Amino acid sequence: MPDQVSEDVIEEIRKTNDIVDVIGEYIQLKKQGRNYFGLCPFHGEKTPSFSVTQEKQIFHCFGCGKGGNVLTFVMEMEQYTFYEALKFLADRSSVDLPDFSHQHKSSISQENQSILSASEWITKLYHHLLRYTKDGKAGYQYFNERGITDETIDVFQLGFAPNVKDFTAEFLQKKGFHQQILVKSGLLSLNEDNSITDRFRGRVMFPIRNHLGKTIAFGGRTISDQEPKYLNSPESELFQKGKILYNFDLAKKHIRNQSEAVLFEGYMDVISAYQAGVKNAVATLGTSLTSSQARLLRRYVDTVIICYDADKAGTEAAYKAAGLLQKAGCHVKIANMPDNMDPDDFITEYGTEAFQNQVIKSSLTFTNFYMRYLKKDYNLSLEGDRIQYIEKLLEYLATIESSVEREYYLKEVSDSYNVSMDSLKQEIQSNREKMGLGKDKINKNRYTNKVSDHEHVKKLLPAFHNAERQLLAYMLQDVSITDKVQEEIGASFNIEEHKVIATHLYAFYEEHQQADVSMFVEMLTDDRLKQLVTDIAMMPLHENISNDEINDYIRNIRAENNNKGDIQSLKEEQRRAEQQNDPIKAAGIAMQIIELQKQWKSIN
Ligand code: GTP
Ligand code: MN
Repeated sequence: MPDQVSEDVIEEIRKTNDIVDVIGEYIQLKKQGRNYFGLCPFHGEKTPSFSVTQEKQIFHCFGCGKGGNVLTFVMEMEQYTFYEALKFLADRSSVDLPDFSHQHKSSISQENQSILSASEWITKLYHHLLRYTKDGKAGYQYFNERGITDETIDVFQLGFAPNVKDFTAEFLQKKGFHQQILVKSGLLSLNEDNSITDRFRGRVMFPIRNHLGKTIAFGGRTISDQEPKYLNSPESELFQKGKILYNFDLAKKHIRNQSEAVLFEGYMDVISAYQAGVKNAVATLGTSLTSSQARLLRRYVDTVIICYDADKAGTEAAYKAAGLLQKAGCHVKIANMPDNMDPDDFITEYGTEAFQNQVIKSSLTFTNFYMRYLKKDYNLSLEGDRIQYIEKLLEYLATIESSVEREYYLKEVSDSYNVSMDSLKQEIQSNREKMGLGKDKINKNRYTNKVSDHEHVKKLLPAFHNAERQLLAYMLQDVSITDKVQEEIGASFNIEEHKVIATHLYAFYEEHQQADVSMFVEMLTDDRLKQLVTDIAMMPLHENISNDEINDYIRNIRAENNNKGDIQSLKEEQRRAEQQNDPIKAAGIAMQIIELQKQWKSIN
């Protein structure tokens, strides 16, 4: 812990940032009993093994073992240093944190800090030009004609880069930025003749913000006929297109509230949708959706509505994105966009309400979408094609788990193509059997899935090991139990880590006199210990533990201690016998040791 920030301040920061709220800003947490569960942000998983307790103000992942308090979480999540995490949380809860930044190393390189700072300047400059100056008027008019209001322009910090060779270059040079760094970041371009000029010229500008709201790149759209239509900043350490989503920082809270996200293809779609009241809107950055983006969305929501252009390319992209999202565990719906329109066109033409009601709220199920999507490969006026289409469709429908749902779609097929329900059902059943999805099998699969997904099969530990964990768990939440244990066995736990935890805990209670796991975790400097403590603290405990139970644990621990002691002294005796060249005696002792070890194994 740095000695510059006082413990009181750290304490206040911790107390004013509830761990459930803070973590809830990164993943969707659902309450189950006394704890909250969600998908671990630190390792890929489909069923939640990441848990948070409000009472104890700690988190722990049963999947990957990570755990700690609110500060540990922010450090891990944002890759922050301790001081940066403090600063982040202090800002979040408006606690005054004395400025020690000059004394602390930053987790961001100097170069990236410089790029972030330049990007912030440029965001403001371009925005100012667009909103308030003659030089930006063309950009303002452009947005105006597309129906974008001043308020929306402000929210998205939209701007204009004038069509001047070195307007930005000069501005940033005056501010003292190094040109090389700006070239690397893609704010400026290096030309063949080695001159440096602005990258974005005569374009309306879309700042691309990371999840914390900091501009890390730009997209610029031409307002004339320049090619390309959209020009983006190049990829860099700060800007990885496949890992971020446009507008995620603003959409986050709406996504969480609605448990649903709407995914678009373009910046303008997101902005129009936002203006039309669909605020849980994000977009990819001119590339196809990646599995990393799919997982990011999955951490926040169960359902993603894909709202892509309803043309050939858009439909193809929607199909691919749906696959990735489903693979990540999302429930997918497809917005009901009329053919050959894009979301922004639709809003301009039919208005806000129609967009909300007829497009977003009327989203198709993935199956419905797929039934339409599949048609593209067949000419359904030909009987042969029609049969092939239906067969292909049935292959997909066979994979649907719910029989009610299956029948619903079968009915649709039956009505549309005049095929009897009976033959469709027969076909489906044989498909399911071929795929190994017979009735019995399904039940079995369900059962085994449940076991492997939800119950964390605890490693079988020897009895003394369990006793130590149980005892520590009670000690972590009760000072008087700790006092008793300290008197009886001190730090004589058998497992090395448990010894260390007990020792720290005795010291902690001497200073604080009351249980506080989150604060205790703060005191530990070793990450592995932190994780072990949070793991132990998450164990379910009896409300009123009896003295007998505590005594049992203590007895168990002592017995193992004695056993270890016996074996230890026998081993020494054996060594002595060997030194004295008495192999028969040594062998006899070895037998005794084996016997003791066997005995203990059978008891434990
Ligand atoms: P508007 O024409 O302004 O309405 O944009 P749009 O959203 O209809 O654009 P489109 O569907 O053509 O593209 C969607 C997204 O793809 C854009 O937001 C950009 O991120 C990206 N994009 C489009 N055109 C280009 C291009 O020429 N180059 C690059 N790199 N990206 C592009
Ligand atoms: Mn468009």
